[in-house]
Amino acid sequence: MWDEGRLRYGGDWNPEQWPVEVWAEDVALMRRARVDLVTVGVFAWSRLEPVPGRYDLGWLDRALDLLADNGVSAALATPTASPPPWFSLAHPGALPVTADGVRLRHGSRDTYCAAAPAYRAAARRIAGVLADRYAHHPAVALWHVHNEYGTVCHCEHAARAFRRWLAARHGDLAALNAAWVTSFWGQHYSDWAQVDTPRATQYLANPGHLLDFRRFWSDTLLAAYVEQRDLLRAANPAVPVTTNYVLGDWVPVDHARWAAEVDLVAIDHYPSAADGRAEEQTALAADLARGWARHGARRRGGTGAPGAGWLLMETAPNLIYTDGRMHTKEPGRMARHSLAHVARGSRGAMYFQWRAPVGGAERFHSALVPHAGPDSRVFRETVALGAALERIAEVDGATVEASVAIGWDAASGWALRHPGLPSSRLDHHGEVAAAHRALWRAGFGCDVVLPGDPLDGYGLLVLPALYLASDATAGWVRAYVAGGGHLLATWLSGVADEHARVRTGGYPGALRDVLGVRVEEFHPHADGDAVPLSGGGTGRTWAETVHLAGAETIRRYAGGVLAGRPAVTRHRYGAGTAWYVSTRPDDDTYRRLLADAALDAGATPTCPGAPAGVEAVRRRSAGGSWLFLLNHTDRAHRVPAAGVELLTGAPVDTAVEVPAGGVAVVREAPAAPRPGRRDRSAQSGGRHNDHGTPCRDGTFR
Ligand code: GLA
Repeated sequence: MWDEGRLRYGGDWNPEQWPVEVWAEDVALMRRARVDLVTVGVFAWSRLEPVPGRYDLGWLDRALDLLADNGVSAALATPTASPPPWFSLAHPGALPVTADGVRLRHGSRDTYCAAAPAYRAAARRIAGVLADRYAHHPAVALWHVHNEYGTVCHCEHAARAFRRWLAARHGDLAALNAAWVTSFWGQHYSDWAQVDTPRATQYLANPGHLLDFRRFWSDTLLAAYVEQRDLLRAANPAVPVTTNYVLGDWVPVDHARWAAEVDLVAIDHYPSAADGRAEEQTALAADLARGWARHGARRRGGTGAPGAGWLLMETAPNLIYTDGRMHTKEPGRMARHSLAHVARGSRGAMYFQWRAPVGGAERFHSALVPHAGPDSRVFRETVALGAALERIAEVDGATVEASVAIGWDAASGWALRHPGLPSSRLDHHGEVAAAHRALWRAGFGCDVVLPGDPLDGYGLLVLPALYLASDATAGWVRAYVAGGGHLLATWLSGVADEHARVRTGGYPGALRDVLGVRVEEFHPHADGDAVPLSGGGTGRTWAETVHLAGAETIRRYAGGVLAGRPAVTRHRYGAGTAWYVSTRPDDDTYRRLLADAALDAGATPTCPGAPAGVEAVRRRSAGGSWLFLLNHTDRAHRVPAAGVELLTGAPVDTAVEVPAGGVAVVREAPAAPRPGRRDRSAQSGGRHNDHGTPCRDGTFR
C-alpha cells in the first residue's frame, strides 16, 4: 500500500526481458540501493496473453512474490500501450490512421486507435485479468494504467466518435457552425455525416476544428483510462490508480482535467537541455505537476484519495537524447534533479529504467543498472540517492511554499500551435516557461494555477500568453484584481474566446478593461529582431501598438516604428493592480520586471541570501519547515540557514555549505517567514523581505 511519510524510489523493472538468475541479482541490488517501488509489466501484454484469451501469468506471479519477499512494492502496469502482434492481425481496423490517411502497422508501440471498440474491449479484458489476480497481492502499492496516453487517430471509428463528441459539446450543427466560424471559406456543415476528423487538407485547416479534435482526443483517452481505472478500483479500492503523463503541448491530453481522475498525478520528465536550462525545465515540470494535482484534488472536492499528490514517475539517470546525440549527465546531476522534484513536492523519485536492455529500440537508454553493471558510477550514485531519500523522508506531505501564481491552460497551448497565426513563434508553454524561468532566477517560489483556481495567498498572478479566455476566465481575472490582487498579463492573453474566435474591439480582448489598454496592431518580429525598451533591455518576438485606456506607461518602446509608445503598462483596477507586457523582454529584463512586479505585490523570495546558481525551495507542514538548497554551480556556496542539515545530520547555526553540484536540506529552526502577500501598509519602499534584510531587487540570482 501507499505509506505516508516515505519517499518512494525506483524505476521500470522488466523481468520479462531477463532470465530468472538476473531477477535475483536485481532484487539484491534494489535492496542495496533502498529501492522500494518498481513499475512492472508496462509493455508486457504479448507475454501475459501470448494468444488471444490464454494467459501466462506464472512469471508475473513469481516476479511479484520475489518483490514482496524483498520488501519492494510494485506499481503494477496494465500493458495496453503495446498491443500484441496477434491483436493487430485480428483487428486491422483498430490500427491507427494518420492525418494523411496512412494506416500504421505493428512494429513499434502504441499501434492502436483508442476509439476502436475492439481495442477498448481487449484493453478492458487484460486490465480485468490483472485486477482479479493481483489487486490484493502484497507487492502491489499502485496501479500504473497504460503508458503516456497521447496517440491520436483519424480512422472511421475515430471520426464516428468525434461526431458524437461534437454533438454532445455543441448540441446542434448551428452551434458547431458558429463556434468554428464555418462561414469563412464556405465550410458550413448541413449534416453531421459531413464532419470528419481534421485530415490532411489542401491548405490551412479550420482552427475551431483543430482545437475540438484535441479536446475530443483528451476526453477519449481519458475515457479509456477511466474504464481501466474503474475495474482496478473495484477490485481493491485501497490501491491508488494513476497513469504517467508525457509532457508537452503536442500531447492531446489536458493534464489538469485528467488530474481529477487519478489518485496520484505521475509525470515523466526528461529535460533535454545539456546546459543549465535542464534545471529550469525540472523546476517548471515539478511546479506544473503540483499545480495539476492541486487542481485535480479541488475538482474531486477534497484530497482524501490514497496517495494524493504527485510523483516523478520516470526520468533518465544518465544518457539523454538531445540535438542528434545522447549527452551524459555529469556526476551528481541525477540526484540533484531528483531532489529538485522532491523539493517541489514529488512523493519520490522514479526512473526509466532499472536495468539497461540488451536489445530493442531503446537499448542505449540510460538505466540505474547500466550495461556496465553495478560496478559503475551511475549505480554508485543510485545507491547514494536511495540513502539520501531515506534521510529526508520527513518532508513527505509538506506543502511547497509559493508566493507567485502562474496561469497555464492546455487549450491555449493547443490553439497557439495552429497554422494561420500572426507568427509561427507563438507558444503558450514557451511563454509560461519564460515567465517561470524569470521568477525562478529571481528566487520566487511559484505555483501553477488553472483558470478558475483559488488565488488566495499569492502576491502576484502571472498570465503568460493566455490566448483563450472564456467569459468565465475573464470574470475570474477581474474578480481577483478588483479584490486587491496583482496581475501581470503578457501579449496574446485574452485575444480569443474558448472556441478560438478572435474578440473584436481591440486586443487583449477579454482582459482590456482590467488591463486598461487597447491594442490596435500586432508587430510580429523576425528571428533575431529586438526592439530597445526604455530603462534598458529589449523586446523580442513580438511588439504591439498599445493605447492607454486607464493604464500608465512603465516602459516604452525606444526604437523602431513604435518608438515612444507604451510597451509595459500598469493599471489600478478596483483594489488591485494589473500590468500588461506587450512584448517578450529578453531574459534579464524579464527577470527584473517580474521581480519588481512581485515585490510590489508583496511577494517574497524564498531565500534572499541564496547566491546566483543556488536554487532555494521551502516546504512547510504543521510540524515545521524545510529548506532545500540545490547548488547548480561548480563551486561550493554558503547560504544563510539555521537548523539541522538532514543529509549529513550536521547542525546549522547561521549558514550551511552546499557542495558544488550538491544539495542541502535543512530542517529549519522555528520561525521561518510565511510566504505570500504581506501587509501592504508595512511596505515602506517595498524592497525588504520578511527577515528585514535588504533584497537585491531580484538581482541576487
Ligand atoms: C517515456 C516512456 C518510456 C521510455 C522513455 C524514454 O518515459 O514511458 O517507456 O520510452 O520515455 O525516454
